[in-house]
Amino acid sequence: MAMIALKAPGIQVTVVDLNAARIAAWNSGDLPIYEPGLDEVVRQVRGRNLHFSTAVAEGIRDADIIFVSVNTPTKTYGVGAGRAADLRYIESVARSIAEHANGPKIIVEKSTIPVKTAETIKDILAANSRGHTFQVLSNPEFLAEGTAIADLTAPDRVLIGGERTPGGEAAIQTLVDVYANWVPRERIITTNLWSSEMAKLVANAFLAQRISSINSISALCEATGADVDEVAHAIGRDSRIGPKFLKASVGFGGSCFQKDILNLAYLCEHFGLPEVAAYWESVVRMNDWQKHRFSRRIVSSLYNTVAEKRIAVLGFAFKKDTNDTRESPAIAVCRDLLAEQARVVVYDPKVPAHEIHEEVVGKGKQEPRLTVASSAYEAAAGAHAIAVVTEWDEFKTLDFARIQAEMKHPAFLFDGRNILDLPRLRTLGFRAHGIGK
Ligand code: UDX
Repeated sequence: MAMIALKAPGIQVTVVDLNAARIAAWNSGDLPIYEPGLDEVVRQVRGRNLHFSTAVAEGIRDADIIFVSVNTPTKTYGVGAGRAADLRYIESVARSIAEHANGPKIIVEKSTIPVKTAETIKDILAANSRGHTFQVLSNPEFLAEGTAIADLTAPDRVLIGGERTPGGEAAIQTLVDVYANWVPRERIITTNLWSSEMAKLVANAFLAQRISSINSISALCEATGADVDEVAHAIGRDSRIGPKFLKASVGFGGSCFQKDILNLAYLCEHFGLPEVAAYWESVVRMNDWQKHRFSRRIVSSLYNTVAEKRIAVLGFAFKKDTNDTRESPAIAVCRDLLAEQARVVVYDPKVPAHEIHEEVVGKGKQEPRLTVASSAYEAAAGAHAIAVVTEWDEFKTLDFARIQAEMKHPAFLFDGRNILDLPRLRTLGFRAHGIGK
């Protein structure tokens, strides 16, 4: 919404949320999420044509276009628990829109949602319309965290799905015109509603599949002496494969990949396609295996026991340049090491200590073996091993000679992101291991 406000000064954008603390944070100098470049954009447009408010009913009444951007977490209860999306927030927003609308509206699904959610929204709106007309569009977001501003400024594509009826086509055109303020027309793709919803799930499934594929090969590389980065480089030069998203790692995290694949698999099963479901689920299974394989490698290298050993975990966010920890591989690694009775010391440049505790052991629970350090040096001092779990740039320029001197010996290092120069670390005396090498 900040980007629309920036690029389309003629459009008034109001972000409404029931959560007053969150809205207050968006109105303050300290935004509630860390995203490089976002502060600058918000500072430029806030108060001009970008507004944050808790007045939900008023926001609905005043709007011509309503973007629905609520959470769609994986269900934790009942039918489809652990796999299906929980659509309660979508439903409640649809009901609020129907209640407060005072004229025709275009409703845009921005949340990642399973295919055919638009139908739910349409159904609720139609049953409560009081004579108003509503058009439902799907406009999934493809930005990645950490690079959101660049992704939004120059997107590979914008996808807009709508009904292929005169009313639907007109609504699609209205939204196309919003993006056309800065996105070249040929990058704006229009489709039917279901194709758009499906394309979002499938895009994430394909991206995640590439990571699981290269991660599966990383295990084979470790067994055979091939180097997975060299293999990735060699196959990526084939223009049919391409070089991106082939970085072997401790595993993918983030709020989208796992959730979307599980949704996709759930849909497949619902529609009687268990083989297709199993195919995509294997991407998530491989990712889980990779995370645990990383922890197992640490334990086996440290003479099969890490009990009471100090392990420094560098990085906790699911990737660099974000403070987002959702589904971060660091969670699994920390839990595995704690289960082996290691003393785990985490350092992350952006994630607060209380969040690290909450993610690993749960809210309000105690785990004295888990501590948080305020620098990589503090985390590594006295440690038996270092595990790099997030690819933060600052880890590349650490003074590893100093770190090595302050560790227990032999000093082990496990680079879960393949960002460090392992041969150099070995000359400094580290027993250094990477993923797939
Ligand atoms: C992803 C999609 O890229 C984006 O289009 C969609 O809108 C939301 O989901 P995001 O989760 O923010 O974005 O980050 P992304 O850069 O895709 O990384 C996801 C995870 O995969 C991270 O944990 C990252 O470290 C990991 N990854 C990525 C790898 O392990 N190897 C790679 O080659 C690329």
